[in-house]
Amino acid sequence: MIKRLPLEERRGVIPVSAIVLFITAFTIANSNALLTKPSNVPTSMLSKIISGNRSFLRMMTKVSSPCLWSVPVKTDSQWDVDLYQQQHSYVWKYGSSLIDVLEKELETSIVSCQQHPSNRLRILDVGCGSGELTKELFLRVNSKFNDATKDKNSCHLQVAGIDFDETMVHRAQKENSMSPKLVFFQSDVCQLSPIATFPATETNTAAETLGQFDAIVSNACLHWVHDADAGVAAMSSVLKPNGKFVVEFGGAGNVGAIVQATAQVIQKRQPGNDHGSVPFRPWYFPSIGEYTTILEKHGIEATSAVLYDRPTPLDDGKNGMKNWLNMFGGPLLDNFIESTSASVSREDVIAEIVDLLRPTLYSDSEAQWVADYRRIRVVGQKK
Ligand SMILES: C[S@@+](CC[C@H](N)C(=O)[O-])C[C@H]1O[C@@H](n2cnc3c(N)ncnc32)[C@H](O)[C@@H]1O
Repeated sequence: MIKRLPLEERRGVIPVSAIVLFITAFTIANSNALLTKPSNVPTSMLSKIISGNRSFLRMMTKVSSPCLWSVPVKTDSQWDVDLYQQQHSYVWKYGSSLIDVLEKELETSIVSCQQHPSNRLRILDVGCGSGELTKELFLRVNSKFNDATKDKNSCHLQVAGIDFDETMVHRAQKENSMSPKLVFFQSDVCQLSPIATFPATETNTAAETLGQFDAIVSNACLHWVHDADAGVAAMSSVLKPNGKFVVEFGGAGNVGAIVQATAQVIQKRQPGNDHGSVPFRPWYFPSIGEYTTILEKHGIEATSAVLYDRPTPLDDGKNGMKNWLNMFGGPLLDNFIESTSASVSREDVIAEIVDLLRPTLYSDSEAQWVADYRRIRVVGQKK
């Protein structure tokens, strides 16, 4: 049986060497004027490192990746990047229409950059995964500059992708080294900050401080961010005034049938398990009202928001739902499998869920699974 730690716990596990490095870096940061200590880590926390306080370790993993003073923490990847690229390409193919929206939103800025080639246009893709959509975005916007200026070097465009998952980021870096104007960094969205600094890598030749952007785009990521308030606050901090915000992710009711079938299987296997008094909410699927209120709170005005059904055909014929549960089902299954007796295998649980879903989401004649996706798309602007 494969047991997988829930993502939150995996993020809390830090090698001892990282703690030693952190203490060293922390000490240096406090004695060296060149390095800045982020205000969200008070010095009193240092004693807690020594006592091994678990919640502090969690916090450390969260603040670790973006800052110069901090220690990069190797996180256990949640994603099989090969499978993601081979069997889930519909994710970024659907995301492509977000680029149309973004191009429209950026029309004035693009024209202004065409007329004043010394202007700079910076776009950030949040939760970029293996970078397919980021690359498409880069090529499309870049071609506008080139059309106008006929000089590739005069385009002051930069497109950056950030992702929490190191294997995704490495793949994105490896497959998109065609231009220094397209860069990828590993960061949790909640830790984005204009002063976050990323060291040079094989592909990003110089260390880079994140700064602020003219636009943020994000596809199929923000439902993984349970602390939406922290995520939006951090994204807002890296948006310039009047910066554009174009995002799409799972909205209220997304994959409702899949969540319900899973709850049914869990109930059967663990009678009485109703996930406590907390509603079974493995992802963050907000309503329009909920999410736009959070945006407003952090200075982003929603100019349009839609919640819409988007039935999504899955790749790989009859294996589609099994693959989907294996790739994306972590938040549905991990806690349950962890807490159940060793006789339950992940494969068995997935097979049961697939059986329950077959009558509603599978077409026998077409050998096609269609997932009951419901997306929220929000376009906004930083005040
Ligand atoms: C389904 S993939 C979508 C990737 C890409 N946007 C696309 O359209 O193909 C979701 C991505 O969100 C990333 N992600 C999840 N939580 C995140 C967080 N807190 N900060 C940054 N990225 C996160 C995951 O690592 C994953 O690569």
